[in-house]
Amino acid sequence: MSKNISNLSGRIGLKDNLFKKLSENVLNNSPKDIKEIAKEYNLGVSTIHGAESFYEFLRPSHREKKAFVCNGSACMCAGTQEKLKETLKSKLGNDKVGEMFCLGHCYENHAFHYDGENYAGKDIEKIDQILKGEDIKQEKFFSKSFATTSFLMDDKLSSTDQFKEQLKKFLKTDKKEIIKSLLDSNLTGRGGAGFPTGMKWDFCSKAKGDKKYVICNADEGDSGAFSDRYLLEDQPLKVIFGMVICGLVIGSDEGVLYIRGEYPKSIEAINGCINELKKLNLLGENILGTDFSFDLGICIGQGAYICGEETALIASIEGRRAEVDVRPPFPVTEGLYKKPTVVNNVETLAAATGILINGAEKFSSIGNKKSAGTKLVCLDSFFNNPGVYEIDMGTSMKKIFNEIGGGYKEPVKAFQIGGPSGWCCSIK
Ligand SMILES: Cc1cc2nc3c(=O)[nH]c(=O)nc-3n(C[C@H](O)[C@H](O)[C@H](O)COP(=O)(O)O)c2cc1C
Repeated sequence: MSKNISNLSGRIGLKDNLFKKLSENVLNNSPKDIKEIAKEYNLGVSTIHGAESFYEFLRPSHREKKAFVCNGSACMCAGTQEKLKETLKSKLGNDKVGEMFCLGHCYENHAFHYDGENYAGKDIEKIDQILKGEDIKQEKFFSKSFATTSFLMDDKLSSTDQFKEQLKKFLKTDKKEIIKSLLDSNLTGRGGAGFPTGMKWDFCSKAKGDKKYVICNADEGDSGAFSDRYLLEDQPLKVIFGMVICGLVIGSDEGVLYIRGEYPKSIEAINGCINELKKLNLLGENILGTDFSFDLGICIGQGAYICGEETALIASIEGRRAEVDVRPPFPVTEGLYKKPTVVNNVETLAAATGILINGAEKFSSIGNKKSAGTKLVCLDSFFNNPGVYEIDMGTSMKKIFNEIGGGYKEPVKAFQIGGPSGWCCSIK
């Protein structure tokens, strides 16, 4: 049954994907009857209703609200949210303030969402300006690399000129060489499962299929994490470059970034980059006059944590209920619309770019055999130096907490590490 839905949804494809259609329809002021969408995609009304009713942001109870306070663990532990909620309720009405799960402002807390934008830190002091729709100056996250060599935070791919130069070079490089670099680097996926990235690209390049896809998993739902947000907003070209090279290597001409709706600035940053790159023929048809074409789009998540899991993410884009599928088959052989697909995390793609630019040897020489290279870590507002940092794999927690983080602002009993699928460990 789900295979049929994937295939039917795939006939329309990624550009007009069913999930986007469903979301836009619900969020539109005068939505169409879902029977019309069902007819257009040749699917049953129950399938469309099943998908639509899955997402928090598409529910009437959510859409009736005007502001949403962050209920992620960093904001909750900081104890800032009750007062924030009361202030917002006093301005907007008791029944107009809801909650959202982690807006990625763990370094400053007091986070809330209003009218398509996120606010945090001292922004609430300017609530009257915000409600009037005025732009306010917002604080940015602090970021710094402590790595032996920076692969993720350097400025080697911060302009479209640099993007063009690097792309020219890799369009001429043997695809097997690119895969070899990734294998030699020992880069493993940064999304959680830690699968070797070179192997994933290699498997997909060898998979048979008339069409293949590249998906960037930008559904960073783990509360406490804002490292993907950092990359999407401050290093977007590195993420996109990783996708383009992946497309080149596996033989794909289309990719998508699935970005959570809780990150409006990330969506804006990536959208801006995609448009700029398209204008410069660095994305799209026959890139730089070669026979390689690669187009990119964005899917905006609608408030479902599980969509970070790759099979649920694929189901979501296809317009199915975003439930986890049994594996195998793995996405590299049967992914989006049942076609071979590479799903990679934002940081993995940016690291792949860093490796191609700086060399695999430099990356593999950092850390250990199991965990090579550098990694982003996020420190919340309990630290004296909250922010996002690039560190060498193998750096001790003591160094991260005491030296990089500068110790704690107040007594701490335990750490929560790695989001809901991570663990809590005592300070001792
Ligand atoms: C419950 C659950 C949530 C997940 N959330 C994310 C996520 O937010 N971002 C992500 O990249 N991977 C997430 N993953 C891992 C993905 O399923 C997948 O392994 C990853 O996107 C593969 O990319 P990588 O090889 O680059 O790590 C999640 C997995 C599970 C089981």
